[in-house]
Amino acid sequence: MSYSIAIDGPSGAGKSTIAKKIAKRMGCIYVDTGAMYRATALFMIRQGIAPADSTAVCKACGQAEVTLRYENGEQVVLLNGENVNGLIRTEEVGMATSLIARYQEVRERTVEQQRRLAADCDVIMDGRDIGTCVLPQATAKIYLTASAAVRAKRRYEELLAKGEACDYDTIEADIIKRDEQDMNREISPLKQAEDAVLVDSSDMTIDQVVEAIMEICRRKGCL
Ligand code: DC
Repeated sequence: MSYSIAIDGPSGAGKSTIAKKIAKRMGCIYVDTGAMYRATALFMIRQGIAPADSTAVCKACGQAEVTLRYENGEQVVLLNGENVNGLIRTEEVGMATSLIARYQEVRERTVEQQRRLAADCDVIMDGRDIGTCVLPQATAKIYLTASAAVRAKRRYEELLAKGEACDYDTIEADIIKRDEQDMNREISPLKQAEDAVLVDSSDMTIDQVVEAIMEICRRKGCL
């Protein structure tokens, strides 16, 4: 029997790191839904369209064809045929994404595609609305979170390790602002689905989180 695993939570909670590891262990496809919204935001930035201009974004979003391809088990995001994996992880794109992800036209197009992917194969999908909206019938639902301070520290250390200049206070402020935008928007706000299991990773290692989620998936019959 096929299965789907939904992992939702705020930015920086470690969803993608954990989901990638679980996908490898379980042999299913990992779908990073944030990357799809990020590619749409990149399109708007390139077109000079302000992410806060809902009319312009909704009018233009039909021109941003976002598709996913899998190469050696890795997700590749294509924007109008161009591989944009290396361009969508900046703070600028992240903040613009959080703004354009509020709009109905943007969400409808993206959600439809995500459902098609899950219909075709076993998936672990992460995002903000997977358990509440995209896959309400998901086999297992996890709400993965951590305190804003821990999430900011992880992000800060990640950027330092990459040799990028960064400031802890700015990162923490951005995380809090993004939480506020993602949790309080009108359409599909980030929230824990009623039947999702809460995992707070503030005091857990990556391996402990993977084990905890694998155990939830086993209990729900994903294996
Ligand atoms: O997970 P991420 O940081 O790549 O997501 C970037 C933004 O995209 C996030 O601030 C909110 C939005 N998003 C969303 O609204 N719904 C999703 N399923 C995934 C991401």
